Amino acid sequence: MAAIRVGFIGTGKKKERPDLNGFFMAYRHAPAYQALPQCQLVACADIEKDHATAFANAFDVPAAYTNYHDMLASEKLDIVSICTWPHLHEEMVLACLEAGLPAVHSEKPMALTFGQCRTMLDAARNSPTQLTFNHQRRFGAPFRKTRELIGDGQIGRIVRMDALCGDLYDGGCHWVDLLNYFNGEARATWTLGQIDGREIRYAFGAPSEYQGLFQWGYDNGVLAVMLTGPDVREWGPPFRITGSEGIIEIGWDAASGPMLQVLRFTDGQWRDIDCAGESLHGPGFHERAIADVLNCLASGQTPELCAENQMKSMEIVFGCYESCRRRGRVDLPMDIEDSPLLDMIETGALGSSR
Ligand SMILES: NC(=O)c1ccc[n+]([C@@H]2O[C@H](COP(=O)([O-])OP(=O)(O)OC[C@H]3O[C@@H](n4cnc5c(N)ncnc54)[C@H](O)[C@@H]3O)[C@@H](O)[C@H]2O)c1
Repeated sequence: MAAIRVGFIGTGKKKERPDLNGFFMAYRHAPAYQALPQCQLVACADIEKDHATAFANAFDVPAAYTNYHDMLASEKLDIVSICTWPHLHEEMVLACLEAGLPAVHSEKPMALTFGQCRTMLDAARNSPTQLTFNHQRRFGAPFRKTRELIGDGQIGRIVRMDALCGDLYDGGCHWVDLLNYFNGEARATWTLGQIDGREIRYAFGAPSEYQGLFQWGYDNGVLAVMLTGPDVREWGPPFRITGSEGIIEIGWDAASGPMLQVLRFTDGQWRDIDCAGESLHGPGFHERAIADVLNCLASGQTPELCAENQMKSMEIVFGCYESCRRRGRVDLPMDIEDSPLLDMIETGALGSSR
């Protein structure tokens, strides 16, 4: 089998603890590729030379660039992992598509504005490149098993999904993606939201609300409700899926209760589901996500992490913020280009909540 030539844009800089100004995600992607015998890590690019060099040394990558355009022009890459902050994803994805790469795997959130998300999706639709975004949690046991329980009819028809998360944009885009996954990739038809902006939190250069209350409806009649804020762990489990015949709950961690449990109304007993020691975060999620991305590249199947699915999540995220801006329900699809949250911050529209 010919080797899959892997490149990286944005290596990050490894430090003692990851934080919201640097999680060095490329250091999570690289071992996932290395675990696959068909992959060869051939090049990396970072605007900071010492970042690129340290990454190249850490993973035995032969070529380190400071300009990713040079890397795309010089190396015959099969896949590039983009691990930069969200405001850079669009230009980098478009450059990779332009270069004719077979596959691009970008970090989440898809982009800083809804227009950038749409531009990338449109470009991917008109290109042979497989474009995916790294919502690796879909490959975690608590989430996989939840989908299986739903598929097996353990809770009947989904009626409502409740979620708690620190914020809607940064962590929340994972949560929305998971809710869409549980709900069979249904499309949202409306959003409604309210936020408080007394303290805007920045993660990877992008803002999020201090606290929020969001709801949206899907074309299959399911309702989703999401609460965000600094204290959400006090308020219950991060996910509760209520069906016509039962309830599934995913916990925060195994130390504070069952990781996953299901209740069937007919027997009235909560049953713990074994998640083999996996939490909300891992281990093994990145490895399985990247393996799936490459399996789909080989087979021609549509990956779960495809841009179409991510667009459905971002329509909900930006749709909820748009509802805050409009002070009313937003019927989807919506015709906006910007980030309503950024706009509200820049125009001072959130001032009254400080
Ligand atoms: N999937 C997850 O669970 C998860 C977790 C944390 C962060 N993330 C996401 O990962 C992405 C990357 O965040 P991070 O914290 O890993 O980044 P980071 O700050 O650790 O690294 C980003 C790198 O990009 C480089 N860079 C900036 N401009 C560049 C350019 N023009 N060309 C080449 N390189 C450039 C920087 O020098 C830096 O080294 C973000 O979108 C973030 O939201 C995802």
